[in-house]
Amino acid sequence: MERSFIAIKPDGVQRGLIAEIISRFERKGFKLVAIKIVIPTKDFAQKHYHDLKERPFFNGLCDFLSSGPVVAMVWEGEGVIKYGRKLIGATDPQKSEPGTIRGDLAVVVGRNIIHGSDGPETAKDEINLWFKPEELTNYSSNAEKWIYGLN
Ligand code: GTP
Ligand code: MG
Repeated sequence: MERSFIAIKPDGVQRGLIAEIISRFERKGFKLVAIKIVIPTKDFAQKHYHDLKERPFFNGLCDFLSSGPVVAMVWEGEGVIKYGRKLIGATDPQKSEPGTIRGDLAVVVGRNIIHGSDGPETAKDEINLWFKPEELTNYSSNAEKWIYGLN
């Protein structure tokens, strides 16, 4: 089953939005298969955001991601990568629709409270960067047959 790396950034943690954000993924029907809280080093933040290293905001972004605890998670479910990004909303909260996490809970692009993988390759790379294989769980839940209609 498809998996995505989702992280609550230091602003989301400091603002007390951990449960709110987890709840939105959980209520949708996605399954939490890994979670931990860590303060990334700046070097680690630079690895996570390596695709953006030429952007003018890269240094500030990496300083910010390493400025406090981040809740790192792996969520599993059909279409979780693409639909997870829908739940999260547009990068700039000024452009995120109401009803999305950033639309409802954030105001500026540099403090948009959550990260989500943007495709299957980045999901794989980010999960491998943030988690050891033994930190990822495999389990089935009774809800799945009701979420997916499987017998
Ligand atoms: P992530 O899920 O965090 O990767 O966001 P995203 O995929 O919606 O956007 P992208 O990967 O392009 O940018 C990563 C992060 O850099 C964003 O979430 C923002 O926090 C930050 N960022 C992107 N564009 C800007 C910008 O124009 N200015 C500033 N200050 N930050 C930006
Ligand atoms: Mg991104």
